[in-house]
Amino acid sequence: MISEMGFENQKMYIVMVGLPAMGKSTIAFRIKESLLAEDTPTEIFNNGDLRRRMISENTSSSDFYAPDNPQGVDLREKIARTNLEYARTFLQEQGRVAILDATNVSRQRRQLIQQMLPDHPILFIECVNNDEEILDASITRKASLPEFHHLSFAEARKSFTQRIDYYKKIQAPFCDERNHILVDSLNNRILDISLTDSLPYLDQIRDIILTSTVSNLYLVRHGQTHDNLVNRIGGDARLTQEGIGQAKAMAECFQSISAPYIFCGPKIRTIQTAQIIRKRQRLDCGVIPLTEFSEIYAGVCESMTYKEIKDSKPEIYQARLQDKYNYVYPGGEGYVSMKERIDRGIKKALFLSARAEHIIIVGHQAANRMILSHFLYRREQDVPYIYVPQNRFYHIVSTQIKKLIELKDPRESK
Ligand code: F6P
Repeated sequence: MISEMGFENQKMYIVMVGLPAMGKSTIAFRIKESLLAEDTPTEIFNNGDLRRRMISENTSSSDFYAPDNPQGVDLREKIARTNLEYARTFLQEQGRVAILDATNVSRQRRQLIQQMLPDHPILFIECVNNDEEILDASITRKASLPEFHHLSFAEARKSFTQRIDYYKKIQAPFCDERNHILVDSLNNRILDISLTDSLPYLDQIRDIILTSTVSNLYLVRHGQTHDNLVNRIGGDARLTQEGIGQAKAMAECFQSISAPYIFCGPKIRTIQTAQIIRKRQRLDCGVIPLTEFSEIYAGVCESMTYKEIKDSKPEIYQARLQDKYNYVYPGGEGYVSMKERIDRGIKKALFLSARAEHIIIVGHQAANRMILSHFLYRREQDVPYIYVPQNRFYHIVSTQIKKLIELKDPRESK
């Protein structure tokens, strides 16, 4: 099929656009994986990877990215042109979709791309993310990459932040680009879309952007605590010896996978469990407590046992029994009101883990029920009764091509 521009419409270029640490490479990778799974030859041409291959000296210094450093500007343009040529050749041969992964924030760069790639339609996918906390954590993640190992951690963070500031200086809004999708990459949302050409694979690409995917998520509940022994809810108790043993069994089981992060809640019991698991992970594995993964806050019933609630606040006990999902503790939370923060926590964890093969989340009984229901459809009234034992974990796979949720025993899953 030939379009009004004379394009042969089975092939296309995708050009990622956005400041560093906006999630461009993750989206590029997901598009590639998903198209390849449907036998559509797809390749990513990443300027950062090519830079590391072409230039032997370390180019992580922020000076390299200064717009007034002519040497850096020339080298980066040379890298961009080389990748554009590779991409064009790929589509001239067997390729169907060539993804150009770089910042591409300046108008000049986007004009160069359009001049050099006139043979097939170009879809610009621009990624934004205005969450300061996530941006900060992303900078921390980037500063830990091997190319910054010659710097102290503080210097690496400073250098990467400076790099972002340099890109902000040359960033220019879209004007005459024919096809443009603006994506909130943290929340998997399309904020704006403007298309002139008819593009192949558009529905698939839209689906990929809108769906959160995870290769392997291991969802663990913290080990037994002193409060668990007496059925006391909430609070901030430590693990019992039994709980420490449960966490160690998880650690043994997960030692064969390599997780860049273990996410947990802010309470001692999840941090303690996460730290025990971390001991059997690679050295740079980070434990990241997210307030979003905290346990349901029971308001006026916080730190009471179920029996105390039944005896001294029978109206609360009964009302909760009637409709556990929608009941909100006075001064506290309910499953229904946890949903928004839990979804936000999942998005943060997935964004920060980028393309990691494996991630681990250590949560709580109610929090984990909500995390599970994010990936697995359950009727609302059933969610507060999902089984979340302390000596087992859920293995969750949720990608465009595979969905799986299994409850596993760590002693049988090494
Ligand atoms: O009992 C442990 C616990 O994590 C409490 O802190 C929390 O209030 C409770 O589980 C949530 O479970 P349910 O909604 O069944 O009361």
